[in-house]
Amino acid sequence: MSHERDGRRFLLSGNWKMHHDHIEALHMVRDLGLRMKPDDVADVDVSVHPPFTDIRTVQSLVEGEGIPVVLGAQHCSDQDRGPFTGEVSPQMLARLAVRYVLVGHSERRQLFGMTDATVASTIKAVLRHGMTPICCVGESADERVAGRTEARLRDQLLGAIEGLEPEQVGGMVLAYEPLWAIGSGTPATPVDAADACAYLRGLVASEVGPEPARAIRVQYGGSVTADNAAEMASEPDVDGLLVGGASLDAASFLDILRAVAGC
Ligand code: PGA
Repeated sequence: MSHERDGRRFLLSGNWKMHHDHIEALHMVRDLGLRMKPDDVADVDVSVHPPFTDIRTVQSLVEGEGIPVVLGAQHCSDQDRGPFTGEVSPQMLARLAVRYVLVGHSERRQLFGMTDATVASTIKAVLRHGMTPICCVGESADERVAGRTEARLRDQLLGAIEGLEPEQVGGMVLAYEPLWAIGSGTPATPVDAADACAYLRGLVASEVGPEPARAIRVQYGGSVTADNAAEMASEPDVDGLLVGGASLDAASFLDILRAVAGC
């Protein structure tokens, strides 16, 4: 990385969504491990976010073979245990060495009714178990056209961090993911992505304080590929990338890693 990010390490995250069963996960992560070189992660943290049923398999592989990626999850309950059929607790994830948990991905918000209030309580649950939330925010196409991007981001961010201590906010990751860019093949322009990331950091500065604003990492996500990753990563306000489709294949994920590592 050529430019300074005030000490923030770039974070490249692969969100597999509902792809790869545990056998496919084993092959993918083994392939990734065989191709990765120590230099690839000299300046970049890498997380993979498989489906829940893959996590134990990926954990054993990564630990057993020393593959330099950390484990992430895509969601969790805001409760530690109890009668919540179908849910997975943050405690269970922490026991499997999960370090990052996506919270409030737009698919969870749109398809599974996650509200700003459950995003906030889930962030607290993730923090309670010593993991790092990656809180996803982003505007819809209609909101962008109506000039409501910043208002939407503000509502989502302030709702998510309500009641947190400044150090907790500083330790989080935000992912700016405009809904129209997710899975569409049309990413935000690097300038628009950087503007939104800078806006979010500015909000943290004004609402929480300068120190958490300096520390918090802000990723961009939405149709990231090896072709656009370097341009995104060379924006000083973009501290990482959250990649869906292009993270499913070891070669294409590694191409993105090498594109950003070489910026
Ligand atoms: P995409 O997904 O890279 O396939 O657009 C990104 C995401 O939803 O996190």
